[in-house]
Amino acid sequence: MIDIENLIKVYRRGKIEVIAIRDVSLRIEKGEMALLVGPSGSGKTTFLHLVGGIDRPTAGKIVVNGKNIVNFNDEELTNYRRKEVGMVFQFFNLLPMLTALENVMLPMEFVGVPRNERKSRAMELLKKVGMEDRKNHYPDEMSGGEQQRVAIAVALANDPPIILADEPTGELDTETGMKIIELFKKLNDEGKTIIIATHDLRLEKYASRILEIRDGKIHG
Ligand SMILES: Nc1ncnc2c1ncn2[C@@H]1O[C@H](COP(=O)(O)OP(=O)(O)O)[C@@H](O)[C@H]1O
Ligand SMILES: [Mg+2]
Repeated sequence: MIDIENLIKVYRRGKIEVIAIRDVSLRIEKGEMALLVGPSGSGKTTFLHLVGGIDRPTAGKIVVNGKNIVNFNDEELTNYRRKEVGMVFQFFNLLPMLTALENVMLPMEFVGVPRNERKSRAMELLKKVGMEDRKNHYPDEMSGGEQQRVAIAVALANDPPIILADEPTGELDTETGMKIIELFKKLNDEGKTIIIATHDLRLEKYASRILEIRDGKIHG
């Protein structure tokens, strides 16, 4: 479902060039849970941003469900980000002035879901991540693990088939991190295709594949 061919990403800062992704080709099947494992600076975040349509590659193809997203114009790419992929970040990324419920409703507003439906679906998703009794809480009134669960509900808002997570347990204590891991496992069991950049070895037993990344090269 995700076919990556000869992907290259070079960052340029003045005269300095950094090759962050170095000719990567790989295929991720529907329903996989792939772990992206590698040291800091190896290109994990860059890779997820390229697949998530947050950033554009220097060269190569990223074919998702038959469409090369590299050829998308800005509007098509925005649409892709809203509907096809859900992103989960290390630092939760909730909007501080919105409640948990409002945070989960927001992505649905962007794609024109009517308000009543937005609200009922957001409630359903908060329930799924075990946060329904915190619906009216603001991010700074929740713990890191609770914010991350809400952030996962946000990522699921428009029911994307693909979830991309960048060190989602990196800022959480052991026990809280475990809840997040179990949540990813549940989503994978429900059919979501998941790629997780992580240092958390507890995820390995749930993974269909370990992708090792070193200096922008992926093996595995
Ligand atoms: N916006 C940027 N501009 C320049 N270099 C960058 C930028 N983002 C990342 N890099 C560089 O690209 C390489 C890969 O970074 P990154 O994808 O963040 O790795 P990881 O997530 O594995 O720590 C690093 O050398 C990093 O310094
Ligand atoms: Mg990173």
